[in-house]
Amino acid sequence: MDVHQAIKTKRAVRKYAEESLPQKVIRSILHAGRRAPSARNTQPWHFIAITDPRILKALTTAGPYIDFVGESALSVAILTPPPSETETILFDAGQTAAYMQLRAWELGIVSCLGSIYEQTTARRLLGYPENLYFRIVIAFGYPRSSVVKPARRGGRRQLADVAHRDRWGEPMKDC
Ligand SMILES: Cc1cc2nc3c(=O)[nH]c(=O)nc-3n(C[C@H](O)[C@H](O)[C@H](O)COP(=O)(O)O)c2cc1C
Repeated sequence: MDVHQAIKTKRAVRKYAEESLPQKVIRSILHAGRRAPSARNTQPWHFIAITDPRILKALTTAGPYIDFVGESALSVAILTPPPSETETILFDAGQTAAYMQLRAWELGIVSCLGSIYEQTTARRLLGYPENLYFRIVIAFGYPRSSVVKPARRGGRRQLADVAHRDRWGEPMKDC
């Protein structure tokens, strides 16, 4: 799968097969994450690769919309310094998340991002230090069926709605 195809077809998928991911595959996803760009190349992240079903289940209580994490074969916690310290931190976290998700998709592994709100719960479960902050988890797994939902018609704003030519207000037309 080339990058263009991967970007076009990748969806957020929240249902996973029970099959676990080989260690080699888990490492490959994490390698993609560590290769992502970051502001001043600070690479301000740590990852916790969680495969223990008990921890995965318990982690679902750390956010209101992350039940799918409990069913995942792997969930990766992205830890960074708190965003209050550096404006670009969550941007960096987004870059590493995208790299991991695209690498996974290339391997036929689906994923979905999840928002963590309960730091105390998450820290108690994962044991990360006080100076780190956990805002985004990524759940991964093989898809439950061989049919992964296709790109949603109208699922993204059109180019002319989001892109401008030279200056604000002159829409970039699609051809
Ligand atoms: C920063 C961020 C946080 C997200 N948090 C959640 C979440 O807590 N729960 C969830 O089900 N999806 C979450 N998502 C996934 C989005 O809902 C999903 O990417 C979006 O609906 C597009 O889905 P699609 O690519 O399948 O069209 C999050 C996405 C981002 C970028």
